[in-house]
Amino acid sequence: MIGVLETQRLWLKHLTVEDVGGALEMFTDPAVMTYVGDVMSEDAIRAEMAVWIKRGGDGCIGIWSVLDRATGECYGSVFLLPIPIDVDDTDWDDVVPGVMPDGDVEIGFILKRSAWGRGYATEVCSRLLRFAFEETPLTEVVATLYDENVASQRVLEKCGLTYRGRRRAYADDDCPDWRISRDEPLA
Ligand SMILES: CC(C)(COP(=O)(O)OP(=O)(O)OC[C@H]1O[C@@H](n2cnc3c(N)ncnc32)[C@H](O)[C@@H]1OP(=O)(O)O)[C@@H](O)C(=O)NCCC(=O)NCCS
Repeated sequence: MIGVLETQRLWLKHLTVEDVGGALEMFTDPAVMTYVGDVMSEDAIRAEMAVWIKRGGDGCIGIWSVLDRATGECYGSVFLLPIPIDVDDTDWDDVVPGVMPDGDVEIGFILKRSAWGRGYATEVCSRLLRFAFEETPLTEVVATLYDENVASQRVLEKCGLTYRGRRRAYADDDCPDWRISRDEPLA
């Protein structure tokens, strides 16, 4: 399929409004949202889908849906998006078709609870980094997360990102600064 990224077990496909079922399962689950944000209402999720499907660059900036190759089941999503600096959420005005963002691009991943513990986050994060460095102009990808989110830190480590100290992001001067550049080895 054109535009679809494959891994051994999974497909990564550009998010569409048809993926609302996966979003509902994740963003209404308090366990999933512990280190992501407030639990969302079904109405809010349905309204946000129109924004979440926006893509920047030549389609290389945005959200991908993570699907099981064998069954088509949606496990969650992974993204490359401009990291917000002075606001506390993604600024979707910075996601512009045909234009690469000026600032850092972050990688992130969210899976529904039943998909945790099977190595899927590492599998999709590694694949998206390979895409970023082999098929887009990006020379560096960053990540930030709550210090308590040890499972996600482990995913970043396994994918080859390293901790560089603290940085400003999400309107906070004390966010962990994880990054990997094009010339560093992908794990
Ligand atoms: C974080 C998340 C993506 C991990 O997905 P996953 O597919 O289970 O991750 P993986 O299996 O690839 O790797 C997880 C690693 O963390 C480890 N881990 C999991 N829970 C842990 C914990 N409480 N303490 C320490 N390590 C932990 C696992 O053992 C594994 O490491 P290992 O391979 O060395 O054993 C998933 O739990 C999730 O979606 N959480 C909610 C959303 C979120 O926090 N997203 C990140 C912020 S953007």
